[in-house]
Amino acid sequence: MHAHAPDSQAGGPQAIDPQAAGSRAPDPKAIDRYAVVGHPIAHSRSPQIHAAFAAQTGQRLAYDRLLAPLDGFAATVADFRAQGGRGLNVTVPFKLEAAALADTLTPRAAAAGAVNTLVFSDEGVLGDNTDGVGLVRDLEGRLACPLAGRRVLLLGAGGAARGVVLPLLEAGVASIGVFNRTRDRARELVAAFGQAPRTSALAALDDCPSSGIDLIINATSAGLHDSAPAVPHACLAGAQLAYDMVYGARPTAFLREAGEAGCARVSDGLGMLVEQAAESFRLWRGVLPDTAPVYARLRAEIDGTPATTPAR
Ligand SMILES: NC(=O)c1ccc[n+]([C@@H]2O[C@H](COP(=O)([O-])OP(=O)(O)OC[C@H]3O[C@@H](n4cnc5c(N)ncnc54)[C@H](OP(=O)(O)O)[C@@H]3O)[C@@H](O)[C@H]2O)c1
Repeated sequence: MHAHAPDSQAGGPQAIDPQAAGSRAPDPKAIDRYAVVGHPIAHSRSPQIHAAFAAQTGQRLAYDRLLAPLDGFAATVADFRAQGGRGLNVTVPFKLEAAALADTLTPRAAAAGAVNTLVFSDEGVLGDNTDGVGLVRDLEGRLACPLAGRRVLLLGAGGAARGVVLPLLEAGVASIGVFNRTRDRARELVAAFGQAPRTSALAALDDCPSSGIDLIINATSAGLHDSAPAVPHACLAGAQLAYDMVYGARPTAFLREAGEAGCARVSDGLGMLVEQAAESFRLWRGVLPDTAPVYARLRAEIDGTPATTPAR
């Protein structure tokens, strides 16, 4: 099974200078530096994605991987900033520490209690969470699945589930039922959103429903181990879309089960990965890249098929 965490595949560290490409190496002091920090980090796809965004938008920047020791996240961030770093993506297992480290949190990061994007400026450190907007854009854009009025079943109650609740509510879903293997964590998640608007639409579930669900989002990490959360087949069969945040060359166990049960459509989380990166890029650079060609290229690479070049 080749399923992957959001940020867990190869692509070389990137120094990107569209003007100088092919002529001379960029001066590292003269370009804005960004990185993704995590543990492990060697297989992150983020440098590749941000290189593609930079080339497409004509932005001059460098984007690397930073391996932080498990007990050295804050020191790694401080070093990077002291060397002139402009921003970081944050991945497993540091998203909670990143929220604690930020001077200011965006409302969606505060609601999630987790940060995947840090922006450094003279005003301090801003922490944001772009996972939720990434999911919403992938669903409503690439998958053409409007969210207004949809009844959502959210599987899982970890950081990824927390990150998507507010953006889903803001997108106008009719309801979000949160079902988690450890029931108390689902209750804690719902309680944490007590102050947010429209929380009456949010409920922790003790049992997985067998009907009345339009969209099932798997925000568990079960797919990384080729297993799936237990969802009644009738529930899978009745849904219009089953979405797994984990992605890979083969459908995850959850997506295979959904397809076999008769769910109308299934999708993995590669599009969310690209969209959350695009929103980080927008925060740093003020321009939102076109994600479609970047998604297509990554999809082809992961699936092992050559990308087709769209006609101009
Ligand atoms: N595509 C993207 O851009 C993107 C973005 C963010 C995250 N993700 C993916 O989303 C997944 C979750 O991330 P996270 O940060 O929320 O992780 P996390 O905080 O560690 O939470 C893991 C969740 O998965 C549940 N779980 C784990 N194994 C399970 C199993 N075998 N059966 C049922 N439930 C299981 C846990 O349930 P318990 O509480 O019972 O342990 C918990 O709810 C990861 O695989 C991550 O790679 C993808």
